[in-house]
Amino acid sequence: MGVEDTEATTLSELKKLEYLEPPLKKNKLTPNRIANTNAIFDFPKLLNINMVASIIIVSIREIIMIKLDSFSSFFVANWKLNGNFKFIDQFINELKLPEDKSKCVVICPSSIHLDYTIRKKNNFYVGAQNVSQHKEGAYTGEISCDSLSELKIDFCIVGHSERRQIYNETNTDVSLKSFQLINSNIVPIICIGETLEEKEKGKTNDVLVKQLLDGISDTSNSNNTIIAYEPVWAIGTGLTPSLKEIDKTHEFIKTQNSKFNNYKILYGGSVKSNNAKDIVSLSNVDGALVGGASLKSDEFTKIIEY
Ligand code: PGA
Repeated sequence: MGVEDTEATTLSELKKLEYLEPPLKKNKLTPNRIANTNAIFDFPKLLNINMVASIIIVSIREIIMIKLDSFSSFFVANWKLNGNFKFIDQFINELKLPEDKSKCVVICPSSIHLDYTIRKKNNFYVGAQNVSQHKEGAYTGEISCDSLSELKIDFCIVGHSERRQIYNETNTDVSLKSFQLINSNIVPIICIGETLEEKEKGKTNDVLVKQLLDGISDTSNSNNTIIAYEPVWAIGTGLTPSLKEIDKTHEFIKTQNSKFNNYKILYGGSVKSNNAKDIVSLSNVDGALVGGASLKSDEFTKIIEY
């Protein structure tokens, strides 16, 4: 049985052409006709200038990735599935950004609020919380790197433990996502960390090595990728490893494979205004990934001012 005819499939050849022609031709405005009119604006030139300008803007964007080395520390707000337009307006009005421009502040709202947050952006960067590992295609509900890039998103959290545990994301997914992000000049913030059970069994280092080796794409390097160490048992619990443990684990991440020597490594898991300074001052810690405390503008202001 064939497909039933609809308006689109029954159009006469002539009408079909009209349907499919670009507007200039459809309105019989051929370049010659435009050139012969006494229009005040020279449309062909104007169109060309606009086209050239947009090609230049897109190309510049394509060759520029944020220079991670130009920052001394990173403070990433992971808003998870929280916030609405009113919250964003209020948060941005109240947030006091540090005078010290070497601190990189990144706000990661839910995907639906990325565009709104980008429009409100002033002296902070905007990051996504997740992305598809597929470039495009039949993947209902997914968001592509190209779409993030069009919105001028600079960072994207990948492999957060909530995505690994609730949505069964694997190290391979994390690696593929990071690969796509790097291709789009978006910095992946790759989360790694052990569960309480793994910690108690003394497996923390093995788990981290596997996540690092299987979850970080070959195209990753210290200029295009950030690592966030987030012990799963510390997320949203108010518990943290001791300062010594955090520093030692970060040192282990940096040194267990020379590839990771110069990576920026953030700590995440129950960072608050009363512990942020001590954690971020540790010699192997390059910043913080903050969940709950990043939803309060006064709390987050205190965290980023250290
Ligand atoms: P938390 O979350 O700061 O609320 O512990 C951190 C995170 O999930 O990245």
